[in-house]
Amino acid sequence: MKVELKNISKSFGENHVLEGVDLTVEPGEVHSLVGENGAGKSTLMNIFTGLLKSDGGEILVDGKAVHYSGPLDAEQHGISFIHQEMNNFAEMSVVDNMFLSKELRTKFGLMDQKTMIKQANHYLGELGSNIDVLAPIGSLTVGNQQMIEIAKSLMTNAKVIIMDEPTAALTGNEIKQLFEVVNKLRAKGVSFIYISHRMEEIFKIADRVTVMRDGVSVATYKVADVAMKQLVHDMVGRDIGSFYPDRNPKIGKVALEAKHLKENGVFDDINFEVHDGEILGFSGLMGAGRTEIMRAIFGIDKLTSGEILLDGKKVSIHTPEQAIRHNIGFLTEDRKDEGLILEDSIYNNIALPSIEGFKKHGLIDDKTIDDFVKMLMKRLTVKAMGADVSAGSLSGGNQQKVVLAKWVGSGARVLILDEPTRGVDVGAKREIYELMNELTDRNVAIIMISSDLPEVLSMSDRIAVVYEGRITGVVDAKGATQDMVMTLATGGTVNATSR
Ligand SMILES: Nc1ncnc2c1ncn2[C@@H]1O[C@H](COP(=O)(O)OP(=O)(O)OP(=O)(O)O)[C@@H](O)[C@H]1O
Ligand SMILES: [Mg+2]
Repeated sequence: MKVELKNISKSFGENHVLEGVDLTVEPGEVHSLVGENGAGKSTLMNIFTGLLKSDGGEILVDGKAVHYSGPLDAEQHGISFIHQEMNNFAEMSVVDNMFLSKELRTKFGLMDQKTMIKQANHYLGELGSNIDVLAPIGSLTVGNQQMIEIAKSLMTNAKVIIMDEPTAALTGNEIKQLFEVVNKLRAKGVSFIYISHRMEEIFKIADRVTVMRDGVSVATYKVADVAMKQLVHDMVGRDIGSFYPDRNPKIGKVALEAKHLKENGVFDDINFEVHDGEILGFSGLMGAGRTEIMRAIFGIDKLTSGEILLDGKKVSIHTPEQAIRHNIGFLTEDRKDEGLILEDSIYNNIALPSIEGFKKHGLIDDKTIDDFVKMLMKRLTVKAMGADVSAGSLSGGNQQKVVLAKWVGSGARVLILDEPTRGVDVGAKREIYELMNELTDRNVAIIMISSDLPEVLSMSDRIAVVYEGRITGVVDAKGATQDMVMTLATGGTVNATSR
């Protein structure tokens, strides 16, 4: 199926989000859509799938104009959208999620569980997956949840599948598996619109790429004919040099030490230390327990046993408030549920946790806080009409930047960052790395969980690798390789363990 979006425009009040966007997708093509956070990618796809109404322009399917009254119409045209944030009911089974509001019934009007299970298995089987369809969906890895989303698309007989940052929470093998499925379906004539901030993926999977900037489609290329540098330039409107800034750390004394931390059934015998001015990377596969370790240190979850020392002194932390009082900050990976108050303004989201810090320095005048919020929004290129708009109206990547800004300003001296650049565009990533460097120059100790291996290797001073709830090694980042980290992350051993 061929689809054409022509001259699409859309405004939210004064905010002109799309101003004449064109996009053509051929049958069996993987077409990548790239652009900075807030460029309008998700909005364009919301219009394409009937979730939003455009202000102007047209949508052609196989040359014929289509008008939808809602998302179900798009589905009937064979268009399926896998969203940036998956919305599943965690306690419900895979099969119940797959057939939610599409339940099959027997001729007596009863739920036809048997047929639903059979079909669920059939579609998952087509993707080469053998997920247990009776398991609660929340118990699956994000990669498997993604597979289920694709199976759901196949169930609706989709000819065009839109994926909005599908790999943001996937690691190595899961991405490989996803790409295999994409290639398999492409060979059958299914097209994909593939949105991603990971440049290297575009070169691996896409046939063509369209760049959006500030609501306009600026260029379309064949991937084989374009250099990454060109794409980045088109996206951000300038060259950004190398992705990673140099790190010249001045590492001081131990800031935080974890001793024999244990949470029953989750992790065991976790020992590490992070020094003033150091970035300690935490690598590992999804589900290895990295986030859980940090949640326990921050007082969200309860430790079964073990000790946490700050500046060599034992501390007891049972709630996040206590952690914050000890000057520990935690940027959670789950920006929607834990990181942001979506209804509240950007201003309040950034400023509230910092007001304590300002008070400590005797600064509580509004002007200082205003300047501070403005500075962070500018540094992190938060794209918004102003500081007073609600955080919930921001694009995914811009929400992430606001959560980061909130913790950067909080005056924490041990800062835990869980996937700090997930979903963030290339230009802003570079800014985040520079901010991390500035923080460590000010002696802040940073623990950075990241599934992005090049990021872990480039930005960490040392890397702790977690496998099934245990640290399998701590290596110096200098001299560490992707292979080394992957080996440790899958339970193997390497002999370059440091300190
Ligand atoms: N419901 C809404 N109300 C007001 N503004 C909105 C709404 N949805 C999106 N916007 C604005 O539209 C712009 C484009 O957002 P969109 O989500 O399409 O960006 P994106 O390119 O998908 O970014 P990201 O890479 O961060 O996901 C942003 O400035 C955003 O604040
Ligand atoms: Mg988006």
